[in-house]
Amino acid sequence: MFYLKYRPKKISEIDNSSVRDVLRKVLESKNIPHALLFTGQKGTGKTSAARIFAKTVNCLNNKFKESSLSIEPCNQCSNCLSIDKSTSIDVLEIDAASNRGIEEIKNLIRKTAFLPMRARFRVFIIDEAHMITNEGFNALLKTLEEPPETAIFILATTNPEKIPTTIASRCVKINFGKAKKDDIILMLKRIAANEGLEFNEDFFTLIANSSENSFRDATKLFEELIIQKITKLEEVERFLGLKGKNNFRKLIEKNDIKAALSWIEQFAQEGGNFKNLIEQMLDELRLMLLAKKGLNRENEYQTSLTTEQIVSLIKLLMEAYQNLRISPIESLPLEIAIVEFYNIRK
Ligand SMILES: Nc1ncnc2c1ncn2[C@@H]1O[C@H](COP(=O)(O)OP(=O)(O)O)[C@@H](O)[C@H]1O
Ligand SMILES: [Mg+2]
Ligand SMILES: [Zn+2]
Repeated sequence: MFYLKYRPKKISEIDNSSVRDVLRKVLESKNIPHALLFTGQKGTGKTSAARIFAKTVNCLNNKFKESSLSIEPCNQCSNCLSIDKSTSIDVLEIDAASNRGIEEIKNLIRKTAFLPMRARFRVFIIDEAHMITNEGFNALLKTLEEPPETAIFILATTNPEKIPTTIASRCVKINFGKAKKDDIILMLKRIAANEGLEFNEDFFTLIANSSENSFRDATKLFEELIIQKITKLEEVERFLGLKGKNNFRKLIEKNDIKAALSWIEQFAQEGGNFKNLIEQMLDELRLMLLAKKGLNRENEYQTSLTTEQIVSLIKLLMEAYQNLRISPIESLPLEIAIVEFYNIRK
């Protein structure tokens, strides 16, 4: 699996540049923090970075052991290897979604009293930290106020607003945010090069655009395409459910409701992905709107639709997008949007 094979294993492999720089600074500073809070969307590298952090401070062959000038973990010593395999007795990963109560947290705090067995620091990685109960947070707070010399806590969460400020204020915060398209493309190129595969830029861009700003989703999609031997752009578009998108746009511009509705029907029959389709349409309509106002000079986005028509179609599609989740028939929200659009146009 690509997303496991290409999990970043050292600082330089973290593809979000801002995180990489902050992490390096923190690790190079004289005082290693004893509590950190990693926040950001799923699949942006929080768990990977937490493991890299644990390896860096515990590696037997880097600057922390003074046998090297680099702070990068060697990924070869017994500490690095066991942390990578999640078998280290000194690095504990806890999922707060299933261990959220006071007993579990007390249990964890008890463990912080023990000295590390093989490493310099015991690192406690608490995933989904926002799930911890109030009592749990209270218990944790006392430990964070005076953490043992040899303990490091890394709290990771997708919902930072649910972490009490008392806790958050005691942590060094690193925001992973959302994965940027350019960073995702860099990652995909790194994987492709490693696998000895070549693709053109558009291929990577298309994947990056369809992966909800998540490195993990992008990696999985990329792998799926390779497994299914989907390499041509049109094939990728079809796979993503954008087949004939351009034809559909022309249909809308041409004011032919019958043709538009039968296009949608066929799209549904072929198993097209409506969420993706509407996202792409909105993206395009936005660019058309900008083109109308002279902000986007690309010919591709010139259209016979008026500004008012574009705006009302955007509004209708946004409504359709929200209704996708509750609609028993996948095609229905888009069909309604299109019918209403033609009514307005008349
Ligand atoms: N910063 C990154 N650089 C490169 N790949 C990444 C990065 N972050 C995540 N990935 C990819 O996504 C997968 C999941 O990352 P993970 O660290 O578990 O994210 P999170 O804990 O934020 O959900 C990794 O195995 C890797 O394939
Ligand atoms: Mg994670
Ligand atoms: Zn090492």
